[in-house]
Amino acid sequence: MIPGDGIGQEVVAQGLKVLTAVLPQDVKLETKEYDLGAQRWHRTGETLPDADLEALGHHDAILLGAIGDPSVPSGVLERGLLLKLRFAFDHFVNLRPSKLFPNTATPLAGRPEIDFVVVREGTEGPYTGNGGSLRTGTPAEVATEVSVNTAYGVERVVRDAYERANARPRKKLTLVHKNNVLVHAGRIWKDIFDTVGAEYPEVTTDYLHVDAATIFFVTQPERFDVIVTDNLFGDILTDLAAAVTGGIGLAASGNINPTGAFPSMFEPVHGSAPDIAGTGKADPTATVLSVALLLRHLGYEAQAARIEEAVRADLVERDGTFRTTDAIGDALAARVAG
Ligand code: IPM
Ligand code: MN
Repeated sequence: MIPGDGIGQEVVAQGLKVLTAVLPQDVKLETKEYDLGAQRWHRTGETLPDADLEALGHHDAILLGAIGDPSVPSGVLERGLLLKLRFAFDHFVNLRPSKLFPNTATPLAGRPEIDFVVVREGTEGPYTGNGGSLRTGTPAEVATEVSVNTAYGVERVVRDAYERANARPRKKLTLVHKNNVLVHAGRIWKDIFDTVGAEYPEVTTDYLHVDAATIFFVTQPERFDVIVTDNLFGDILTDLAAAVTGGIGLAASGNINPTGAFPSMFEPVHGSAPDIAGTGKADPTATVLSVALLLRHLGYEAQAARIEEAVRADLVERDGTFRTTDAIGDALAARVAG
């Protein structure tokens, strides 16, 4: 567990509570907490030392709360801790499912057919840190941020997305990019998407430019089943997806290495929300749903499904009324245990 910063601490505590409650008696759970994030950085100047990275690599899975604090310069923890973990453990599949949850404040209420999953590439694109600037501060300064798209990296995530689409009833896969402007990256994505697609004749495919995709997320979200897209488009689209399907307090994610070579890492899509840290207002549901993804990844399908059922039932019972972080965790733990 890497609780991290702000509300990360509070929501991971609830995630652990529900995990402990749902596991069968004969499963022995061993956890270890890693002190990583803003406090560690202030104390030692370290973001993710080699020793911690090495130790983390021996676990079956990682549960992360949130990283980031206004007292740390922007990018230090994001790049030095969160992205370093994703890159070091080769989390090339960033899985972000969206289902419409009951009784949530969403502009799409009453559209139960919304059930899609975004397969966001997690190790390439504009996230690699490739680029730079001479930082002259003059009007002639140039800054570049180069998107890296390797055939190796694109193929493996596209193939994973086809596998996921093929395993779902609707068997539909949409590629989202911007190949009318980003002609180099867009071309390699579309070529590989089409080539790999020949191996999955039962999967219906579709292509959308990212700007058009944002319209359909709001006006016609039921058209989506599985979406595959690059790291940055996936980042933006999944915040939008969360907002329209129940709010960022419910959005779960998995940073997955499907080969099993490294532990996969599960985290809520939301950030550390320092403005509400310590107030008991944080909704731990996104973390609890990330625990469900973690269990599914490790082969505990029944337990994952129990958590997801419990969340639905709890949202129906809550009916939009406020409950504290702790109260939500207690209610979910009670449901999955019973
Ligand atoms: C997310 C976050 C991260 C990202 C940041 C904190 C680096 O926004 O997990 O979506 O951009 O991937
Ligand atoms: Mn994001």
